[in-house]
Amino acid sequence: MQAQATRSASVLDRAQRMDLNNHIGTELRGIDLLSISDSEVAELKQLIAERGVLVFRDQNMTLEEQIAMGRRFGELHVHPAFADKDHPEALRIHADANSKYAAGELWHSDVSCDLEPPAISMLRIEVVPTAGGDTAFASMYAAYEGLSKPMQAFLLHLEAVHAGDIPYRGAFKAVSDQEYPVNVHPVVRTHPFTGRKALYVNPGFTDKIKGLRARESKALLELLYDVVAYNVEYQCRVHWEPQTLTMWDNRCTQHFASWDYFPQTRSGWRVTTRGERPFLAP
Ligand code: SIN
Repeated sequence: MQAQATRSASVLDRAQRMDLNNHIGTELRGIDLLSISDSEVAELKQLIAERGVLVFRDQNMTLEEQIAMGRRFGELHVHPAFADKDHPEALRIHADANSKYAAGELWHSDVSCDLEPPAISMLRIEVVPTAGGDTAFASMYAAYEGLSKPMQAFLLHLEAVHAGDIPYRGAFKAVSDQEYPVNVHPVVRTHPFTGRKALYVNPGFTDKIKGLRARESKALLELLYDVVAYNVEYQCRVHWEPQTLTMWDNRCTQHFASWDYFPQTRSGWRVTTRGERPFLAP
């Protein structure tokens, strides 16, 4: 009997796919995120887990449409400090000539201080500066897999404390009275979709490694942060255009937003799905 080609339509059949490098990042052209099917949403969730970052251009949508689109990828996260007051499931990303800081100006995984930290972040930038404003992303699969086997084995025994007051109380004095989440997560986590191990400590939120002396914890965290920052082959860089929407998977990536456009304006909205409690599979 002749085999029948009954494969269901794939979002990749009608997208132009361009991988940014071997480790991380894929741009998909020709996709309108407001008109994808449920099976295409599922396919994109799997692809984000594999590639870490997906870039979509020309996604003209209102904030309400972006929130509705984001909900199709999972229950939405409400930011513990900066949720928008009119749209609690959205986070304004904005810097201009009056800004004292810009969000995400160091390597981090979004809100890793939460008990169940975010899974997929979806940032749509509406206003871009004439130059700069890129976001760098790094693969935490590659960061873990690039370590020596003895170091990998050592890290598998460790857990780290992630504290919300590290980014918020120190730098953002305006919200200093608020209480922030503090939670313990494995230093290496298993991605539930791919089964791959990913490094899960970041300078944005990680306070210390449990069970180590203070100097040991500091030295080990600095070493791991250097692995992320210096291995440019684990990284990709997204250059934004108006209405570019980039999705990243916080379970297997970190990112760094470059504030190199002051005093110009860069402005957009992020919606983010809730993730599961990080775990390391035996
Ligand atoms: C963030 O979500 O950390 C901000 C990222 C960006 O502005 O590119």
